Amino acid sequence: MKRRLRKIASPAVRMLKPSRPIPARPLCSNRGAERGTPLGRHYVDRYMEANRGDITGAVLEIKNRRYTDSLGHGVVRGDVLDIDPSNRDANIIADLAAADDVPSDSYDCFILDETLQFVYDLRSAAAHAHRILRPGGVLFATVPCTVQHDGELKDVEMWRFTRGSCLRLFSEAFAGGEVEVETYGNFATCVASLAGVVLEEIDPALLEERSPLFVQGVCVRARKAGGAGT
Ligand SMILES: C[S@@+](CC[C@H](N)C(=O)[O-])C[C@H]1O[C@@H](n2cnc3c(N)ncnc32)[C@H](O)[C@@H]1O
Repeated sequence: MKRRLRKIASPAVRMLKPSRPIPARPLCSNRGAERGTPLGRHYVDRYMEANRGDITGAVLEIKNRRYTDSLGHGVVRGDVLDIDPSNRDANIIADLAAADDVPSDSYDCFILDETLQFVYDLRSAAAHAHRILRPGGVLFATVPCTVQHDGELKDVEMWRFTRGSCLRLFSEAFAGGEVEVETYGNFATCVASLAGVVLEEIDPALLEERSPLFVQGVCVRARKAGGAGT
């Protein structure tokens, strides 16, 4: 009887004692930034490259001019907004969720990458993002879903996002406009990213699949109603 029970239980026992145990620790924390290119940044770079046609005119970006300078064309103004008053690259110091001092209808493009996870009042931030865009202006927001927490900022990180929450948040804020939401990542890239594996170490073929079940991050393009486009 005991032998029979052992036989029935053996597959489960094998699962609990896998030959390749899951590592107890990642290769590194802080998303691999000290080891190479974090996988999430690779996807955001690709997303912004694919949408570079919209980075034009009066452009607002958070923290720095990463994409304004590298991908923009016909940029007539490139502003940088940050809540952090010590950021010397920022010419607008404001909390996006309470950005009443930023004039309405000011920008053709707002690049809001990897920031909303730090903003508690998402609805207010999305409403201000919409308000400060000109009619026809475009917001790009990228947000994390399955990713390590930022080591230095973990106490001020508020959220992780899904395709559904982004669709709802931006469809409400950009009512009457256009909202497109896409996700990136798959099982392999989610696991690799959590483990601290960086772009330079991963088989490029693994990056291509987009899984609806294993999402690493979400990218949003939201266009304000009006302007030449409508
Ligand atoms: C991870 S960075 C954003 C990505 C940045 N463009 C880059 O190249 O890494 C997050 C930035 O959002 C800023 N931030 C956090 N909460 C904010 C808020 N409520 N309003 C405006 N900026 C905020 C932080 O100070 C930080 O500079």
